[in-house]
Amino acid sequence: MKAVVYEGPKDISVKDVPDAKIERPTDILVKITTTNICGSDLHMYEGRTDFEPGRTFGHENMGEVIEVGNGVDKVKKGDRVVLPFNISCGFCQNCERGYTNYCLTNQPDPAKAGAAYGFAGMGEFGGGQAEYLRVPYGDHNALRLGEDAADKEDDYVMLSDIFPTGYHATEMAGVIPGDSVVIYGAGPVGLMAALSAKIKGAAKIMVVDRHPDRLRLAEEIGAIAVDDSKVDPVEFVLAETKGLGADRGCECVGYQAHDHLGTEDPALTLNRLIQSVRFTGGIGSVGVFLPADPGAPNKDAAEGKIALDYGMHWLKGQTLGNGQAPVKRYNRHLRDLISAGKANPSWIVSHRISLDGAVDAYKNFDDRTDGWTKVLIKPGLASS
Ligand SMILES: NC(=O)c1ccc[n+]([C@@H]2O[C@H](COP(=O)([O-])OP(=O)(O)OC[C@H]3O[C@@H](n4cnc5c(N)ncnc54)[C@H](O)[C@@H]3O)[C@@H](O)[C@H]2O)c1
Ligand SMILES: [Zn+2]
Ligand SMILES: [Zn+2]
Repeated sequence: MKAVVYEGPKDISVKDVPDAKIERPTDILVKITTTNICGSDLHMYEGRTDFEPGRTFGHENMGEVIEVGNGVDKVKKGDRVVLPFNISCGFCQNCERGYTNYCLTNQPDPAKAGAAYGFAGMGEFGGGQAEYLRVPYGDHNALRLGEDAADKEDDYVMLSDIFPTGYHATEMAGVIPGDSVVIYGAGPVGLMAALSAKIKGAAKIMVVDRHPDRLRLAEEIGAIAVDDSKVDPVEFVLAETKGLGADRGCECVGYQAHDHLGTEDPALTLNRLIQSVRFTGGIGSVGVFLPADPGAPNKDAAEGKIALDYGMHWLKGQTLGNGQAPVKRYNRHLRDLISAGKANPSWIVSHRISLDGAVDAYKNFDDRTDGWTKVLIKPGLASS
């Protein structure tokens, strides 16, 4: 089958790899209909993780079930399903408590937790930027879709990762109706956090970035765009909140945060959040931070040590939630919002491409080329 293969930093190819297949009785095999490129793929694409050359990308996957193992009871051939990027078992200590983002069964390293398709440090699972995907524990992991699956495909595919992840950021921050919320990052994840804050009834949503195309998308759903190449975002938020700071804040950038001129500082957004959020406020951090960064700007950052303004964070009595999102905690409810026409996360989609378009698309999405806000790969499309 054809798949997107990582060859080395900023070097990918689309080539034949061994077909995905049923390996265990609890597996299902999915023919991919849509699979997205994510900001998390870019950390790997840029060589800023230990992702091994030769592996395939793709953790935002949706498709049609074409085969089920003989231990699968619920999911049937022909079902249209969306797969959480987390691969979880459902029966380990962490899964049982709802932390499917920290599954112990699917992570081969006993010192770690959590697994995902085509992801650095999350097990050796193949990615879905391919024609087919093997899904372990299919009954547990696959979320089945209704008759509107094909019509709303570009909305439903966001349930694999970014919509639940943005929602998780607002959950960890503690967003409730009437809150003011500041979100750093207007990439796909930040925009989903803005949509989630809107769904929860936030009174004021401010989104900080410097790319006009992404900020425009935030404005389209009623958020206030804050261009940090033009204004100091902390001062802006304080001015909008009677000098108190926002009730809640979301980190949707991650360890490759930089100022608008490109100088990297992995602590930049977290420290700006500590300054922008009020005393006793909550912060949800879903942007990825890692304990090792081969391309870090300095030695401390290379070991994941970042200079957090902990004193101010402590003084303000803020809460801070971190980590990968437990997609299964939210995907069913968010699916039903989409089905009812009350959430349309596909408004951020800019490109729909074939597998062969991936090389060009990765470059443009990585360069944050104007107009490349979210890329959907559709293996069924003829290459152009
Ligand atoms: N926790 C999870 O489960 C989870 C899931 C998906 C993605 N992620 C992570 O979320 C982060 C965002 O993902 P994405 O797909 O939106 O990525 P993206 O790279 O497309 O978007 C990041 C945005 O942040 C902006 N940015 C950079 N520095 C900034 C700063 N100092 N202030 C404000 N904005 C700044 C960039 O201009 C860009 O628009 C990534 O780190 C990704 O790995 C985490
Ligand atoms: Zn993702
Ligand atoms: Zn588990």
